[in-house]
Amino acid sequence: MVQAELSQETKALVDNAIADVGEIATLPEVTVKIIEIVENPKSTARDLHDVIKNDPALSARILKVVNSAFYGLPGQISSIDRAIVLLGLSAVKNIAIAASMTHLFTGGASIDGFSGADVWKHSIGIGVGSRLLSAAQGRPQVEESFLAGLISDLGLLVERQLFAAELGEVVGRFQHNGGNLCQIESEIIGADHQAFGMALAKKWRFPQTICTTIGYHHNPMLLAEMNRELPAIVNVADILTCKAGIGFAQHDKNTEITDELYTLIKLDAAKVDEILDQLPEQVSIAEGIFGE
Ligand SMILES: [Fe+2]
Repeated sequence: MVQAELSQETKALVDNAIADVGEIATLPEVTVKIIEIVENPKSTARDLHDVIKNDPALSARILKVVNSAFYGLPGQISSIDRAIVLLGLSAVKNIAIAASMTHLFTGGASIDGFSGADVWKHSIGIGVGSRLLSAAQGRPQVEESFLAGLISDLGLLVERQLFAAELGEVVGRFQHNGGNLCQIESEIIGADHQAFGMALAKKWRFPQTICTTIGYHHNPMLLAEMNRELPAIVNVADILTCKAGIGFAQHDKNTEITDELYTLIKLDAAKVDEILDQLPEQVSIAEGIFGE
C-alpha cells in the first residue's frame, strides 16, 4: 500500500502513547470476541449469536438498532437470530462492535471546549453520514462504513487521556484561529488523532479497512487509489456533520467538498446536499440508540 509514512520520531511517540494508554486501550471482552469472529473466515452466525446472547445489554441495543427507522423492516424483530437472517452476518457484526463501544467515548474527563459527549455526538454524525453516503452509492457494506465513521476519531480519546493540556491548547487554537486540526495537533502534540487512532485500532486487531480509514480520514489522497473510497466517504461525512453543527467540529462550517472527493465517493453535489438535509433527523434517531 502506498501511503505517507510517519517520521521515526512521530512513530515512537505514537507507539509509546499506545503502550501507555491504560484504561481506554482495554476493549470490552465481548467486543474482542466479536472482532475474533469477524476476522475468522470459518465463523458462523451461530458463533456470533453465542457471544451476543451472553450480554443482555448488548443484545437489547442490537435489537434496538435493527428495529429502528434505519432499516424500515416489517414487524418487530425480537431475536438476534432473526436479525442475522434479515441483515446478514457482516452487518450484525459491525452493529455489535459499534454498540459495544459507546462507553469508551462518553466516559472520561472534559477539557475546555471539548467533552466526551460532544465528540461522541460528532462521531455518531460521522457514522450516520458515512452510512447514508454508502447507501446512496449502492455500497453493499453500509454497516462497515457506519462503524468506520463512528470510530474515526478514536485518537482524540488517546490524546485526551495522555496529552490533556496539549489537547486543550490544540482545541483553543483551532477554535480561535481555525486552520487544519491535524496540523495543529502535529505541531503541539507531535502526532495527530489519525495516527493515535490507527495505532490503537491495530492494537485491538480491528479489520485492516477500518484501521486504514481511521489513519487517513482527513487525508484520503495519501493512500493508494484503491484504498481511498472509504476514508473519502468518512471525510465527506465529517465535513457534512460540521456543516450541520453536530457535536465537536473538526472542520470550518465553510469547508467545501472538493471535486476530487465527489469523484472518489461517486456521488454528485445534489445527492450529497440531500444527505446533509437528512442528517440531523437521522442523527437524533441514532443518538436514541447509541447514546448512553
Ligand atoms: Fe477526525
